[in-house]
Amino acid sequence: MSRLLHISSSPRGADSESLRIAQTFLDTYGDSHPDDEIETWDLWDGTLPEFGPAAATAKMAVIAGVELTGAQSLAWRSVQGVVERFLAADRLLFSVPMWNSGVPYILKQFIDVVSQPGTVFGVDPHTGYQHLLADQGRKAAVVYASGVWGPGLGPEFGSNFQSPYLVDWLRWTGITDIVEVGLHPTLTGDVADARLSADAEARAAAKLF
Ligand SMILES: Cc1cc2nc3c(=O)[nH]c(=O)nc-3n(C[C@H](O)[C@H](O)[C@H](O)COP(=O)(O)O)c2cc1C
Repeated sequence: MSRLLHISSSPRGADSESLRIAQTFLDTYGDSHPDDEIETWDLWDGTLPEFGPAAATAKMAVIAGVELTGAQSLAWRSVQGVVERFLAADRLLFSVPMWNSGVPYILKQFIDVVSQPGTVFGVDPHTGYQHLLADQGRKAAVVYASGVWGPGLGPEFGSNFQSPYLVDWLRWTGITDIVEVGLHPTLTGDVADARLSADAEARAAAKLF
């Protein structure tokens, strides 16, 4: 049995394109994997801890093997709670709007919270990063949405730091089994047609996930 965690980073609720496609994915996944557990984490629900001065100092102290102060321990406990929730899922689904060519800041915050030494990554001074989630059978699916940028358009329609950033981070953790679905209708494209294609891709991906 697998556990699928949907990490949702659009705050737009019923208006969200990425959420709607993610729901299509989840419906098909539920039908084709009836024994698996599915959980959605709306990153905007207020439960994601901040990663500020205490947490950042705690992270560097853990790497240096230095004891944590009270405030750092408190922040580190919150961070570890998120790391455990993340690691408990062997299937991840991200729904990701494009914001200013990249990802919404709440998703970056999530990445900063879960990317911790000893659980997600290690560093060897000579060989570099160790990708601690590799070879564990973990898989990720990502649903992207944008409104202006689209593949094949020129730089006057913006840049894509959305999918390269997320895929690079996933690979850095060691998760390399990644399937991507994009809705990029562009300002002149056929939105209805693009939605149909993205939904079909999401259903196909979910069956094989
Ligand atoms: C804060 C913000 C920034 C955005 N920046 C871009 C952008 O840089 N490029 C783009 O193509 N669309 C941009 N958009 C449009 C969204 O990517 C588009 O509405 C997409 O459907 C959002 O995903 P969602 O519907 O799941 O919320 C932006 C929208 C918002 C709210």
